[in-house]
Amino acid sequence: MAAINPVTDLVIEDGIAVVTLNSPPVNALSVAVRDGIYQGIGEALDNDAVQAVVLICAGKTFIAGADIAEFDKPRSGLTLPQVQQRIEDAGKPVIAAIHGTALGGGLEVALVCHYRVAVPSAKCGLPEVNIGLLPGAGGTQRLPRIVGAEKALEMVTSGMHVRAKDALAMGLVDELTPEDGLRAGAIAFARKVVAEGRPLRKVRDMNEKVEAARGRPELFAEFRRGNARKFRGFQAPEANIRCIEAAVNMPFDEGLAFEHKLFEELMAGTQSAAQRYYFFASRKAWNVPDVPADTPTIPVNTVGIIGAGTMGGGIAMNFLNAGIPVTIVETKQEALDRGLATIRRNYENTASKGRISMDDVEKRMAQLKGSLALDDLAQCDLVIEAIFENMDVKKEMFGKLDRIVRQGAILASNTSALDLNEIASATSRPQDVIGLHFFSPANVMKLLEVVRGEKTSKPVIATCMQLARRIGKVAALVGVCPGFVGNRILAQRQREAGKLVLEGAMPWDVDRVLVDFGLPMGPFAMSDLAGLDLGWRRENSTGSTLREILCEMDRRGQKTGAGFYDYDDKRQARPSPVVENIIRDFAASKGITPRVVSEQEILERCIYPMINEGARILEEGIAIRASDIDVVWVNGYGWPVYRGGPMRYGDSVGLDKVLAKMQDFEARFGDDFKPAKLLVDMVAQRKSFKDL
Ligand code: 3HC
Repeated sequence: MAAINPVTDLVIEDGIAVVTLNSPPVNALSVAVRDGIYQGIGEALDNDAVQAVVLICAGKTFIAGADIAEFDKPRSGLTLPQVQQRIEDAGKPVIAAIHGTALGGGLEVALVCHYRVAVPSAKCGLPEVNIGLLPGAGGTQRLPRIVGAEKALEMVTSGMHVRAKDALAMGLVDELTPEDGLRAGAIAFARKVVAEGRPLRKVRDMNEKVEAARGRPELFAEFRRGNARKFRGFQAPEANIRCIEAAVNMPFDEGLAFEHKLFEELMAGTQSAAQRYYFFASRKAWNVPDVPADTPTIPVNTVGIIGAGTMGGGIAMNFLNAGIPVTIVETKQEALDRGLATIRRNYENTASKGRISMDDVEKRMAQLKGSLALDDLAQCDLVIEAIFENMDVKKEMFGKLDRIVRQGAILASNTSALDLNEIASATSRPQDVIGLHFFSPANVMKLLEVVRGEKTSKPVIATCMQLARRIGKVAALVGVCPGFVGNRILAQRQREAGKLVLEGAMPWDVDRVLVDFGLPMGPFAMSDLAGLDLGWRRENSTGSTLREILCEMDRRGQKTGAGFYDYDDKRQARPSPVVENIIRDFAASKGITPRVVSEQEILERCIYPMINEGARILEEGIAIRASDIDVVWVNGYGWPVYRGGPMRYGDSVGLDKVLAKMQDFEARFGDDFKPAKLLVDMVAQRKSFKDL
């Protein structure tokens, strides 16, 4: 094998040149890889003995896209379109041989090859939208020429990965090779192309599919309408749609220029910068500095869950989905039956939407065992407690688990706020105790806060981080404090939202500002959804908070047709004149005169204390890095990823401005706004969270 340059090898076998790229971890299109392709393909094409060229990658994947880390650096070297042109204009067939994932710029390279072959496990996609971009190397113009406008719209706006079998059916891939025979299969395919004298096909010249969509503007209008909710606030989906429209309505080169212009606009914008930041943040979060990758882990092949309520059931589904058997324990047969039935119903709903088969439903249910005896958890590798949030109850449970569950197993609590160290102290093995804080609905929400107690051992932490990945969660390791990272920060926003309505803003004003900012729901709509009577009992009610007053009036949220809002039959919320009066009376009883609260104040009062609390969390070492806090908020609370996360948002506003506002609020409203020491220090040192 001849090395062409540090990342490219070239061999010629009986007239077929094989150009192999090797740039771990994912063969991203760095300057070196772009050079490598250009030189490798160029040398192969210039060689008279070569009849066809195969482009293949070493390691775990075909090219996974442009090198995202290079986007924030000055541009240098060959551009991707220059590299692509060398391939597309070749006088000999070039065949892309795909394994792993051909994503973004990687698929765009494959799309200028004349043919594409893939192993069955390979996947193709244009996921640029997930980092606030669009495929900027012709992807939006070439893809619809193969798969049609409708499928292309779906692919570029969702970033979905298409399986090789489906890619074959769409014509995106020309042939599948055996799983372990990609190289040989691609060479054989190349020989066939040469022997049969197949044409040098250029995707850019295939106009049939785009012409079919020409003169059908309703196709795009419907797509926009159908996805308006999903795309709300994001710039990239609309830019992607406009590019597919251009592919349909413009000649190829014009479409390409249009795509380039929109790509550059997105690249220069704040949304993509935040989404690119988040891409790396979510990957960094797996890394625990004092628990290195080679820390031994504990095999987890069986899981026990205590509590078959909404939380326990949702948690169970995560493990069943990953093929891990679960035993779920309840105290009463009726509750157990109800819990198991809910899990089955959830799976059947998923199956009715075509996302899994009925066979899958049965397979998963067969791995689930219900029990009324804690003793049935004795042999589990991991036991997760998901019972009532009460310290005494939890301690009693952990005392029992300590006696029942085999030594060496992991004992986890799903507590969302209680002191894990105290829970662990009820056992003789605090090193095996950890918090696994799932977010409701636990089978849907991506986030898992892994809570490290004072004595939690490193193998237990390493195991749980790995397990989180196995069940498809995004994990962040956090320390023990009331509410951990997510809920502790949430408490700041909730407190201010409550105060703002007493001062003169209405619940729907607060909600609107936060929804406009990009959150999925405001705090009051959220309370109505969850039920205002969570933890409330009429006999204990003192009528001393707004919430209590509303509950006493049977305005308990969506379920009673009224809460902070009034609801119609379709659960559509309307501002409530009744609530407005209640709030005014309540404020008056507290001697507060309502004032006009500006939208800007609502936003700053709700968000800046969150950033400040994040700084405190970092000061106390509860989170490892600022970006972990952002990962928690994006995945657990719907923080708009195009604003990066609260800490990244603080950086983008400027921490000096955040601090100045906190000081102003402190002077006007008191201690709730006391700036964190870390925030003060960072501003003095002209640092931002990204510099920590
Ligand atoms: N650029 C730079 N680094 C990348 C990268 C990329 N495109 N894709 C992955 N990496 C890095 C990750 O940061 C990670 O680094 P680390 O080990 O130091 O943390 C490492 O590669 C492995 O990545 P994952 O942990 O994500 O590994 P997985 O096996 O779970 O997933 C993957 C692999 C499916 C390829 C996933 O990494 C992925 O989705 N990557 C991004 C793909 C993408 O968005 N491509 C489009 C880029 S934009 C583009 O191409 C523009 C073009 O149109 C002009």
